[in-house]
Amino acid sequence: MHLLGKFVAFFLFLIWNLGSSGNSVVQACTFSVSNKCPFPIWPATVANHGHPVLAKGGFYLAQGKTQKFSCPGDWSGRIWARTGCNFSSGLKPACETGDCNGLLECNGIVGIPPATLVEFALQFNKSPPSFYDVSLVDGYNLPVTVTTTPAMTKCRIGGCLKNLKSRCPVELQVVNKKGEVVACKSACLRFNRDAYCCRNEYGSPEKCKPNMYSKLFKDSCPSYISYAFETPSPLVVCNSDEFVITFCPDKWGSQHAST
Ligand SMILES: *[C@@H]1O[C@H](CO)[C@@H](O)[C@H](O)[C@H]1NC(C)=O
Repeated sequence: MHLLGKFVAFFLFLIWNLGSSGNSVVQACTFSVSNKCPFPIWPATVANHGHPVLAKGGFYLAQGKTQKFSCPGDWSGRIWARTGCNFSSGLKPACETGDCNGLLECNGIVGIPPATLVEFALQFNKSPPSFYDVSLVDGYNLPVTVTTTPAMTKCRIGGCLKNLKSRCPVELQVVNKKGEVVACKSACLRFNRDAYCCRNEYGSPEKCKPNMYSKLFKDSCPSYISYAFETPSPLVVCNSDEFVITFCPDKWGSQHAST
């Protein structure tokens, strides 16, 4: 009976494996998301086409808490955090930043920018290998770091050196009902011009150059992508089976930080 059980389990594993990924074994991985902000956040995930929704697409994470969830080792998609949410009001948006149609569980729905995006394209032992980045192409709402377990320098994306919310130019600011700056739009998102969005005649790394806004983003958060065709792009190439995403890793995480 025991042996038969093992055989059945192995057979099911084979079928699952063939069905999900051709003939290669997909290793599992783990995302560990921590909230070091002095307020609650609602992390959210959205998968790229053909990849599963993780953690139902979104969840509540109290101040100081960590939540782990598993991922296929070849997952690709993005993770961000929503702030200032109230799902009991029934209003849309339910969050001051990063809202996905007023839902707690985004379940495949992309968030409303601006929001700092952690982007993953995982590929174990393949070419191209796994890579990830933090993007401000659609703007900024929170600082974040990405590390691995065990921690390795080459696998780390650092946080921000300066508070981008307090440095955000008036024309890019997103302000809540209390008058607090809760996010900073990118120039592309705010002005929708080809030169800022790297489109059309500006649609190449040679033609799309840094601008005063992207330079401010870069100066504040040097490890993040500050505009679409930033070169060299600060991608991290690193294989691991656990990725640690920490929102508000330092003092610049405070919504009320003054400098
Ligand atoms: C959420 O919205 C409801 C309904 O508008 C309100 O009664 C409640 O006080 C709000 N909660 C918070 C924490 O603001």
